[in-house]
Amino acid sequence: MQSLNVKIPAAEKNCPIIIDNNDIPALYGEVVDITGKNNCLAVISEKVFKLYGNFLNLPKERIFILKDGEKEKNLKTCQKILERALKLNLTRKDYIIAAGGGVCGDIAGFAASVYMRGIHLIQIPTTLLACVDSSVGGKTGVDTKWGKNLIGSFYQPDCVLINTNFLKTLDDRQFKTGLGEVVKYAFIEKSCGCSEDFGLINYLSLNSGKILSRSSKTLEELIKICISLKISVVEKDEKEGNLRKILNFGHTCAHAIEKLTNYRKYTHGEAVVKGIEFAFDFAYKRGDILESYKFVAEDLIKKYNFKKIPDFDIKKVLPAMKLDKKAESGGIVFILPSDCASVKEYKMVDNEILKYFC
Ligand code: GLY
Repeated sequence: MQSLNVKIPAAEKNCPIIIDNNDIPALYGEVVDITGKNNCLAVISEKVFKLYGNFLNLPKERIFILKDGEKEKNLKTCQKILERALKLNLTRKDYIIAAGGGVCGDIAGFAASVYMRGIHLIQIPTTLLACVDSSVGGKTGVDTKWGKNLIGSFYQPDCVLINTNFLKTLDDRQFKTGLGEVVKYAFIEKSCGCSEDFGLINYLSLNSGKILSRSSKTLEELIKICISLKISVVEKDEKEGNLRKILNFGHTCAHAIEKLTNYRKYTHGEAVVKGIEFAFDFAYKRGDILESYKFVAEDLIKKYNFKKIPDFDIKKVLPAMKLDKKAESGGIVFILPSDCASVKEYKMVDNEILKYFC
């Protein structure tokens, strides 16, 4: 078992994160230890409910089964969750529990943040992507026809319970999409300002076999490393005023690719990996990094055999990059590699980008 803690003074919350590989029904006891006699409403992803059943031992009316897919992450579904909470007379002492992947955590987290101006929240992430990224750090939200996550809040959970057994039933593509975010942490490690040096690039390079075969012990360690790095960033900059932007390494390009392919053709992690490759290529062309470091990145990415996204025409992708909610007036924000495992932020106008790619 590994345990970590997120302390954000402004959020007035201390959020423990427990990572273990106990049997899944043991989560019931772990949840009761936190919630005590208070009431709960669990938002559980349909897939997780089908595979693991009512592992939280809750009466039927206290379980909201969330249909799978990003299209469920909308205000209408959020309203249904809130209405169920109202019907159950939940008070601010009670809990919303999110058990599922990123979509489930984001929408249940958003509902928890607005229900009576904030009710307790427990995150139980069941995908690798949710374990290493979305369940930690307090970003919540829903999608609208204007874009993804445009309505949301920063709302820290009371606790994150991670059980690596859930990861055994992920299909290969879902597992790899999480690995896309894991690889991202390797290239930003030194910029995260964490007191511990994990050497994640080397760790990922040496342990690819154990990671890909989903060894519980290795996954526990890997998740702990990624979350430690994320905590280090989020504790310094919860609201993404500055440092937190480094967590978007590879994402400027990834979001554009996902948008241009209607979020259907590639998973988020596949797009992030392409975005990381683009960022390395860009930094090398600008003279920011040595060719040897670009090769290190390419070798590491090769080891994980991600689905390959073909090269794209920058002129087609640029307009989509500008639609990203992280774009700022006067330019597109890129996080690019600098020294080994470090990144820097740049704001660039079209011509500064096009001159390296046309
Ligand atoms: N997923 C990036 C962040 O939490 O800031």
